[in-house]
Amino acid sequence: MNCRYYIPMLNLVGRGSVSSVGREAVILHGTRAFVVASEGSVGEAQAKQISDILAAEGLEARPFCEAIPNPTASVVEKGAARYSDSGCDIIVAVGGGSAIDTAKGIGLLATNGGRIRDYEGTDKSKRAMPPLIAISTTAGTGSEVTQFAVITDEDDHSKFTIVDWHMTPNVSVNDPEMMLSMPPALTAATGMDAFSHAVEAYASKNATPVTDAKAYKAAELVASSLRDAVKNGADMDARENMCYASFLAGTAFNNAGLGLTHAMSHPLGGKYGLPHGLCNAILLPHVVKYNMDYAAGRYSDLAVAVGAGKAWHSERENCESFIRFIVNTNREIDIPSGLAEAGAKFKDLEELAKEATEESVGAPNPRPYTAQQVLEVYRAAF
Ligand SMILES: [Fe+2]
Repeated sequence: MNCRYYIPMLNLVGRGSVSSVGREAVILHGTRAFVVASEGSVGEAQAKQISDILAAEGLEARPFCEAIPNPTASVVEKGAARYSDSGCDIIVAVGGGSAIDTAKGIGLLATNGGRIRDYEGTDKSKRAMPPLIAISTTAGTGSEVTQFAVITDEDDHSKFTIVDWHMTPNVSVNDPEMMLSMPPALTAATGMDAFSHAVEAYASKNATPVTDAKAYKAAELVASSLRDAVKNGADMDARENMCYASFLAGTAFNNAGLGLTHAMSHPLGGKYGLPHGLCNAILLPHVVKYNMDYAAGRYSDLAVAVGAGKAWHSERENCESFIRFIVNTNREIDIPSGLAEAGAKFKDLEELAKEATEESVGAPNPRPYTAQQVLEVYRAAF
């Protein structure tokens, strides 16, 4: 078993860590920063906060506050055009996965040109991007540490995945103080996204001892802290633990890959604009059930990690406990119990199943699947 382990060069986790972003930008030879954030008042406030930190170290900032949930190709291409006119030499992304994925797409186009869909697939770019500092404001997506970006093609409402070593940020930041204003529903959905990353990376066919260590600890931290972070957003210990969980789960799936939960979640995001973490949370227990006979030992380990199983129980008993744990956690943090409640339409499931089988993120899933089997999982989760 060989291990290729990608990770940003510098990773800052913990309270107040965002304050050193200006210093890191100077070390990366930045003089003028293109600050990518989400549209609206929250994104603008975050861009202003980061611009002030950069200014204290002598950097100018050019904000681009136009990232949207499920980021589209046209926003990425608009941002790339703006970047090339800006005279900037470094990109700083602040926000959730959408803002960071948008920034990665902008960076890729800045030095490689063309349309963003040209880079669908693995390692299609020829040149390194401008330096990228990625500051996460949600504890879950892991985008701040990964070489992945998921972009929506608005022409056919499909999502496509770019996997490119050049897109790995130079610096990642997970500071709980940046997450205090996150509302409970977003804390819940992004936290379950982190949990899905940990579970899928641990059960992946490409898991290694390196990714196992990250994924196992991430699952343990989500189990101990997500409910507290949702219940009381000002609970700094819970928020900080979720920062570590998100960071660890992100570095795990960046290297071990994901599985069927994410393959099934992406078409739902593309079709209905449903939050990514929410879809994963609903699908995860059903995918674990589907995979159970092919990864029983892996799910049994995780059942013990989250405190739902016992080392002396059978793998099967622990798998059942693990599924119950996920369902109960979803209920406690107000995740809808099924896809219908979340807004999916039964008549679309066949088309979604076909799309899910074509999703490359599902490749490391421990059990193979056909469109018919995926359809059955969608129906069970409906
Ligand atoms: Fe995810």
